[in-house]
Amino acid sequence: MIKLSSFLYLLLSQILCLDQWQCTCEQLMTEFDCMTQQKNRFKLGEIDQSSICFWYQEKCQNLMNFLSDVSCTSLSNQECSFISETLFTINPVCAWYYKSDGGQCTKFTRCQDYKYSSELIAEVECSNIGCNRIKNQCSFDYRGRQEQYCSEIGDQKICDITFLKDKLTICKWNTSTKKCGGFNFEQCSDLTTEYNCDLANTFCRWKDQLCVERACADKESEYKSGSQICVSFYSLTTKQYVQCVENKSGDCIESDPESLLPYQCNYFSRLTYLWNTTTSSCTPCLYVGHSDLIKVVVIVLFVISL
Ligand SMILES: *[C@@H]1O[C@H](CO)[C@@H](O)[C@H](O)[C@H]1NC(C)=O
Ligand SMILES: *[C@@H]1O[C@H](CO)[C@@H](O)[C@H](O)[C@H]1NC(C)=O
Ligand SMILES: *[C@@H]1O[C@H](CO)[C@@H](O)[C@H](O)[C@H]1NC(C)=O
Repeated sequence: MIKLSSFLYLLLSQILCLDQWQCTCEQLMTEFDCMTQQKNRFKLGEIDQSSICFWYQEKCQNLMNFLSDVSCTSLSNQECSFISETLFTINPVCAWYYKSDGGQCTKFTRCQDYKYSSELIAEVECSNIGCNRIKNQCSFDYRGRQEQYCSEIGDQKICDITFLKDKLTICKWNTSTKKCGGFNFEQCSDLTTEYNCDLANTFCRWKDQLCVERACADKESEYKSGSQICVSFYSLTTKQYVQCVENKSGDCIESDPESLLPYQCNYFSRLTYLWNTTTSSCTPCLYVGHSDLIKVVVIVLFVISL
């Protein structure tokens, strides 16, 4: 029974997944939307392994699905690094696996699989393959190719600036255990310090000594670059995306992204709209979200009927 209920919880938590309205690779109709998807997700701090899209044979395809049969093993160390650092800088697909007898290039699996003996760790930085490090093992996937947990972060500096958006978890270094831990929140008002509220800048803003849900006019700081951008956001109160666009005087206001130009459509809608070449307009990607929802509900009912 315990197993069953935790399984149910897993399924239910998928229903609440923030990404349910976001476009999938397969839905994207233009090469521009397809090829900018990965970069845009990264700018918004929203990468996951389902998001690596590439344009091939006049279609937008999911790279991870496509690559499942392709092996990295024939590549030399230099070629392997070239693939990871030059071609797929944001989500490396191949990684050099060091072993005492030399090692080989393999399809990237997950950070924890990359363990090194102490004399070899000097030769590789976990960060080259997009991972943090705990002792002689890579951990915590910066690129979101796998689920991320605060406990996988090995150093205090990174820990204290990490916010796991999909789980609404703020990571915090525990000075007595010298480990990275974290805490969850549900609403902006649960955050009581300006620092934590700023970390959750995607959803919240600090105003009059309180953490409140943000509005379009409170722009968001772009991940890494920190520049202020007018971009749509997910409301924790209404559990829906609030669509923000910049009007002609440069103000960030709530509005349908339908007025957006082809190159603005997907990014400013926080990847929830796409440029539809049939209608030559910016249209929502709602449909798959709904059908996924139905699928999940069906599975839940099936489990209950067991
Ligand atoms: C640090 O970890 C200890 C042991 O798990 C725990 O009791 C304590 O509450 C933690 N401190 C913080 C600030 O989270
Ligand atoms: C842009 O939005 C602001 C704030 O709502 C409004 O005052 C301004 O008139 C708008 N400008 C245009 C050109 O619509
Ligand atoms: C594009 O628009 C057409 C016509 O409204 C619609 O049938 C189609 O489903 C849309 N495509 C996507 C991927 O949203």
